[in-house]
Amino acid sequence: MAVNEMNDNIDIIDWFRASTTYINAHRGKTFVVFVSGEALADPNLHNIVYDLSLLNSLGVKLVLVHGARPQISAALAKNGRQSSYHRNLRVTEADCMQTIKATVGGLSLELESMFAMGISGSPMHGANINYCRGNFVTSKPVGVVDGVDFQYTGKVRKVHSNRINQQLDAGNIVLISNLGNSVTGELFNLSAEEIATEVAAALQAEKLILLIPSAGVMDDEGNLVASLQEQQAREYVQTLRARGDEESVCVAQALEASLTAYARNVHRCHLISFKENGAMLRELFTRQGHGSLMSKDSIDQLRNATIDDVGGILSLIKPLEEAGTLVERSRELLETEISNFKVIELEETIIACAALYPIGEHHGEVACIAIHPQFQKNGLGDRLLVSLEKTAKSAGIQSLFVLTTVASHFFIERGFTEVGVEDLPEQRQQLYNYQRRSKVFRKILS
Ligand SMILES: CC(C)(COP(=O)(O)OP(=O)(O)OC[C@H]1O[C@@H](n2cnc3c(N)ncnc32)[C@H](O)[C@@H]1OP(=O)(O)O)[C@@H](O)C(=O)NCCC(=O)NCCS
Repeated sequence: MAVNEMNDNIDIIDWFRASTTYINAHRGKTFVVFVSGEALADPNLHNIVYDLSLLNSLGVKLVLVHGARPQISAALAKNGRQSSYHRNLRVTEADCMQTIKATVGGLSLELESMFAMGISGSPMHGANINYCRGNFVTSKPVGVVDGVDFQYTGKVRKVHSNRINQQLDAGNIVLISNLGNSVTGELFNLSAEEIATEVAAALQAEKLILLIPSAGVMDDEGNLVASLQEQQAREYVQTLRARGDEESVCVAQALEASLTAYARNVHRCHLISFKENGAMLRELFTRQGHGSLMSKDSIDQLRNATIDDVGGILSLIKPLEEAGTLVERSRELLETEISNFKVIELEETIIACAALYPIGEHHGEVACIAIHPQFQKNGLGDRLLVSLEKTAKSAGIQSLFVLTTVASHFFIERGFTEVGVEDLPEQRQQLYNYQRRSKVFRKILS
């Protein structure tokens, strides 16, 4: 085997192993995915369908909501019709509905047939994906707004979550288009973003995923903004709308939908490119992601560890134990000592941890402080230390010790001074490992 090929294989093996955390985290969760009309027209659509099928195979419950905006405009234009818009919403005239039904129906069928594909040699071979459509959303007319009669433009009246959940529990992918029936039996033309948002909120979905034309939200220098908090997202909506080009407006709309979903307790909204092959898998199954995530989980969130974090802490500290930077801890030991730990979690992954061990009544020791290499130099180590110091102070601890072989300066710069082993409280001195030759630092807290 050629060296390059061998390295590629190792990369794949490492990537696949690292994705275990995400596979476990996503299993059984509900994701609502918005597929715009533009995404349906993109040559990458077949890869998106493969990736959605893979998610379904991994036990993710999927609801797909598709739009048809450019296709409807094109079909109407062919008949010499042009829609008028008010407040970014198409006014749907009664005599356009026949064309719209035919267009949207055709798109839904095409999407269905892509999920049905299972020819030998394709990634879908043997996947045996089940999908369904049904009366999952009841609509109502938008009515007359600012004196403009929207006619057959509708909005969501009710999402039938029970019906959707029954299908999801049976392992089916639920497909929803932008057309919705009203209780009077009429069909209305809705905004697919609105349906996706309403469905995600009604199901209390784990994630709302919006497929967009760019790699994510881009800042003014053209860099990807990987994670956003609510206020930042609001600011970007203004910035993107001000940029005014089609792509920016599209991303702004997706961000607005995210903000609406977020306000209704859907706390993870991903904006992912529909143009880039594999972008969704990279966003969902790698630590660094590959899109923009608006989430409640900011890396500012620091909390006390629980027993459920033991696995995450072990995988974070294992490489540091192997390198000799941290003292080895068994799973059993960690389980008994977990109440001493604080962690920082991002997207269901522990990215930082640190522990505070009391020594007698008035002393404490900071230990096992570890930040994942990708997140170092972001102030997380500092924040954990500050938090441990606060906890120590409120527990009446007066002096804080730390033993380190490689991070002396990190602690010196944070008010610790080097002391001798003999300055450690007696019971800790007895456990001092003379072979490791760690340096001892102390900080007086009062
Ligand atoms: C040491 C560690 C906890 C710091 O966390 P961090 O989140 O990267 O640190 P912060 O972002 O809060 O602070 C960054 C500053 O600390 C400094 N720093 C980071 N690691 C350091 C180290 N090992 N020695 C000295 N200074 C260090 C950085 O240079 C940076 O300083 P600068 O801003 O002046 O350049 C982290 O690098 C880590 O997990 N290292 C591996 C495990 C380890 O050594 N743990 C300590 C065992 S007791």
